[in-house]
This record gives sequence, structure tokens and C-alpha cells, in this order.
Amino acid sequence: MHNILVLPGDGIGPEVVAEAVKVLEHLHDEFGLKLELAHGLVGGASYDATGSPLPDVTLAAARGADAILLGAVGGQKWESLDIAVRPEKGLLGLRAELGLFANLRPARLYHQLADASTLKPEVVAGLDIMIVRELTGGIYFGRPRGIRTLENGEREGYNTLVYRESEIERIGRVAFDIAMRRGKRVCSIDKANVLECTELWREVMIRTGKDYPDVELTHMYVDNAAMQLVRRPRQFDVMVTTNMFGDILSDCAAMLTGSIGMLPSASLDATGKGMYEPIHGSAPDIAGKGIANPLATILSVAMMLRYTLDEPVLAERIERAVERVLDTGLRTADIHSEGTQKIGTVAMGDAVVAAMAD
Ligand code: IPM
Ligand code: MG
Repeated sequence: MHNILVLPGDGIGPEVVAEAVKVLEHLHDEFGLKLELAHGLVGGASYDATGSPLPDVTLAAARGADAILLGAVGGQKWESLDIAVRPEKGLLGLRAELGLFANLRPARLYHQLADASTLKPEVVAGLDIMIVRELTGGIYFGRPRGIRTLENGEREGYNTLVYRESEIERIGRVAFDIAMRRGKRVCSIDKANVLECTELWREVMIRTGKDYPDVELTHMYVDNAAMQLVRRPRQFDVMVTTNMFGDILSDCAAMLTGSIGMLPSASLDATGKGMYEPIHGSAPDIAGKGIANPLATILSVAMMLRYTLDEPVLAERIERAVERVLDTGLRTADIHSEGTQKIGTVAMGDAVVAAMAD
């Protein structure tokens, strides 16, 4: 029996999660997936109901679950709150408390969506990148941090970029292991020309890479990596990088595929337990309109089946269904182009379920 905690969160989170749950329930009803679903609160919705973006009951349920399906957190409504209780703290708290240090963000272009990319089709055709982002360290969590007042009365904000060798090595191993199952190339992204912390990052990556003689390891400064992603993105196989660089580069990589609404993610601990979420945010501007793209969340369920629940055949069934739906020309607004049919969130979820039949 797989225990799954569902955390819809804010904005479009509940809408896209409902469609992914539909897919999970269909796997339960029709394909024998043993499943127990529980629901919980996180983010702004949780703050409104309980005063905390990550209440103890949610954290306890998350610890007890085999896997977590999360929508998105955040929104303008909560932006003026103290940073300690902002919706984002709910997400960061889950990552940190559960030790979900390995964030896998695949950016793959569906050939049906080549027109949806803002880049020329010949630049993005066949794009298939895996970004491995360190998720529980770096400047997101480093101390000291804060805003202090100097003697002259001026305020100063500060954060700390810090990585231990063991943290770098374990995310490196995740990237090398994944590369072994893909194109056997890892590009490590740093800013070793300026930041000592990432000078160490590079050194540890080189050392760790010696255990993977079949994998080609290269290095790139993050500014160049951002440029190369839009210039010649197909040069990349696996990219491994720090928490903040990974945050930025994965949004950039997502857009190469046409829409950030297509990209799933997995955040894994050392045992393979994970939290699964679309990489897009809560998109408050389109929340409640029934037009959000649920495919990133549905594809996150496929990642859950593959990486945590050990059900690769069911994962493929979902991925094939998504391909088929795209083949038939059905599109949500974000990926819609001339000659295709625009549909809403619920209709897209229904279409995927229908396409799972064979
Ligand atoms: C992401 C998001 C989060 C992050 C925010 C919501 C805290 O941008 O998952 O990429 O910065 O990690
Ligand atoms: Mg981000």
C-alpha cells in the first residue's frame, strides 16, 4: 500500500493537483495501484487556516507518507507577511525537514510543442536536459542571514552561501548516477571564478567524478550556462548545480520547452522518498479560472511512480497518455497555437485519463 500525502497549496495548486489526483485514482481503480491518499494544508492556505505555512500535523503526515504530491505555494496576498511565516517557508520547511536534498528537474521538449517555444524549432528540437539542483543547502539555508541596522542607521541585508564537502559530494553522486542512465555527460555549474564556496564545489565534483570514469564531467560558470541554455541548449545532458543557481536555470530551461506548465519535478531524500511538484508556481493571475495546465503535475505523478513507488510501467502509461493527448491537438492556453484546440484544466485532466486506456 502506498501512502500519499496531497498538499494542494495556493493559487492554481488546488486546480492542477485535482487533475493529478484524478490520474492517481484512475490508476487505483483500473490498474491495481495500491493507494491511500491523505490531504493536508501547506503555504498561504495553511497560514490563513492555522497561522502557520507548515503546521505540525502537515509535517508529521509528510514524514509518515511514502510520497508527497504538492501543487504550489505563495501569492500576493501573503507577500507582506514576515518572512518566517510566508507561504514559501512551508515549502522550504518540507524540503529541509524531510532532507529532500536532490531536486530533479527534467526539461524535455515534446515535439508536438516545438512551435510553443519562443526559440527556433531547430534550436530546441530533441531537447532533453536533466537539471539536478541541490535543494537543502546553499544560500537558501545558510546562516547568518537577516537584515541588520548599522551604526550609522543604514540597514544592511545579508545571506550566506555555504556548502560542506559532504553536501556537494552527495548531490554530485545523484547527478553522476542519473547520467549513467542517460547520455553519460554531467556539466557542473558554478561561479568558481568569484565565489570560494563554488571553488570548493568544483573541486569536490572533480574528485567525486573520478568514481564515474564512464561519465564525462565538464564545468561552466553560471552566467555562461544561462547564455548557453538559450544559445545551444542541446549541448547539455545532466546539469548539476547549487540551490539558487538551479532555481534560476531551471526556470530558463523550462521556457525552452514552450511552457513552464509542462515541467514536473522530484525532490528526493537519501532513501528515494520524495516530494513531487510541478516546477511552476502558484500563478495567482490565472488561479480560479480553470485554464491552468495540469500536465506538469500529472507528469510529476509519473515521476513519483518511477522514483519512489517503483511502478515504472504505470509511469510510462501516464507519459504515453500525455503524448497521445498532445498528438490529438488538445492544448491548454499556455501551449495553445494556431491549428490546435484550446481546452481548460479539467478537460485536460479528463483527456489524459481517457488516453490511459491502452
Ligand atoms: C522553486 C520555487 C521555490 C524556490 C520558491 C517558491 C520558494 O521557485 O521551487 O523553484 O525558490 O525554490
Ligand atoms: Mg523557482
